[in-house]
Amino acid sequence: MKYKTLKGLQDILPPEIAVWHHVENISRDIFKNYGYQEIRLPIMEATDVFIRSIGETSDIVEKEMYTFQDKGSRSVTLRPEGTASFVRAYVEHHLYNNPAPQKFYYMGPMFRYERPQAFRYRQFYQIGAEAMGIDDPKLDAEIISMISAILKSIGLEGLNFEITSIGCKKCRPDYRTALKNFFSGKLDRFCSDCQRRYDANPLRILDCKVPSCIESRKGSPPVLDYLCGECKEHLDRLRSYLGLLKVQHTVNPNLVRGLDYYTKTAFEVSSENLGSQSAVAAGGRYDSMVEEFGGPPTSGIGFAMGMERIIPLIKNSAGGTDGPDLLFCPMGDKASEKAFLLTEQLRAKGLWVEMNLEDTSLRSQMRKANRIRAQHIIVIGEDELKNNKVVLKNMTSKEEIAAAIEIKELLKIISDRK
Ligand code: HAM
Repeated sequence: MKYKTLKGLQDILPPEIAVWHHVENISRDIFKNYGYQEIRLPIMEATDVFIRSIGETSDIVEKEMYTFQDKGSRSVTLRPEGTASFVRAYVEHHLYNNPAPQKFYYMGPMFRYERPQAFRYRQFYQIGAEAMGIDDPKLDAEIISMISAILKSIGLEGLNFEITSIGCKKCRPDYRTALKNFFSGKLDRFCSDCQRRYDANPLRILDCKVPSCIESRKGSPPVLDYLCGECKEHLDRLRSYLGLLKVQHTVNPNLVRGLDYYTKTAFEVSSENLGSQSAVAAGGRYDSMVEEFGGPPTSGIGFAMGMERIIPLIKNSAGGTDGPDLLFCPMGDKASEKAFLLTEQLRAKGLWVEMNLEDTSLRSQMRKANRIRAQHIIVIGEDELKNNKVVLKNMTSKEEIAAAIEIKELLKIISDRK
């Protein structure tokens, strides 16, 4: 029987994994500079955690969740995103008692039962961050600037930063009414999902991907016209801070986010090189969620970026890494034993060392050295053992250096050339 990965899932193999590490390391470094600490959350939650936060009428909750009953007949769901799990943890552990802002980041797999296509998977990895307890737009600007810093350090170019405001508890009801008024006369032109959304959550109609719905909603009232004074001021100040930090952006009043928890700021970073799945990163403010989860009124803002969309944008991402610092090519049993010991000793000193474990010809050992991109090789045979001397060859420069068979000396030569 042949087994394959499930549809929409993928294995990530070397050498591509090196590019993943590169992105993760850069992100960790930059998170540190901005004061973010890592938080690790379970990949499964009680289903209600997601229904309550992402929204009953969202695409994710309606049709994309991996939900099942566990053996104790509890409904559990593989996390489709990180923010809901994060807020659950934030409230559960009373993290709001620490001084604000509290800043966290996470990395890991998310699960959505979507139709797989290029850059869209059913298991995909996000790097995300959440900052809690400050509702000043400086924090919004800081987080957007941090995303820009991460993506720039990774080497991505030609990205579009779009921001908007989707209002708050105070102004959203007026906007909702305006949308309902607009849609009421032409509801028959919308798909059955949208007709259902009309009563439950008309804002969702703006998010529908059905072409006839996209056409029929043209000319709908723009959200920015309905913002209250506070939301308007928040957006204006955010824009001016982004200007100060020189983060190029545009305001896109049609930006619709697929999650219900957002208030005020929402944003998306997109690339033209990803076809229809152009969003590389996205996020926004969620000033009511902590309270809805049973915590004190606490504002929050965060984002997540999609690894499967970032990796293909990195030039030469298939390039891979250098191979081991050193490969021993022993000739004969005695030399093989000595190389075996030296390999372990040099590894203990922090070098990546390999040796040919099988007794093969020198030619085939050389072929292997090239294939695994060994940076140095040492051929060791009876003569070398007798004279306690080897020749260490740098595979890039072709430099050959004579050395005693002695850990300190070998270590120094290789370290100097790293
Ligand atoms: P989201 O927009 O649903 O937001 O996802 C964020 C990013 O995850 C997207 O921009 C995209 O790069 C990636 N992504 C989403 N779905 C897929 C998929 N099926 N395949 C590959 N990549 C995908 C959130 O998840 C929010 N939790 C972000 C956030 C954090 N908002 C506030 N805090």
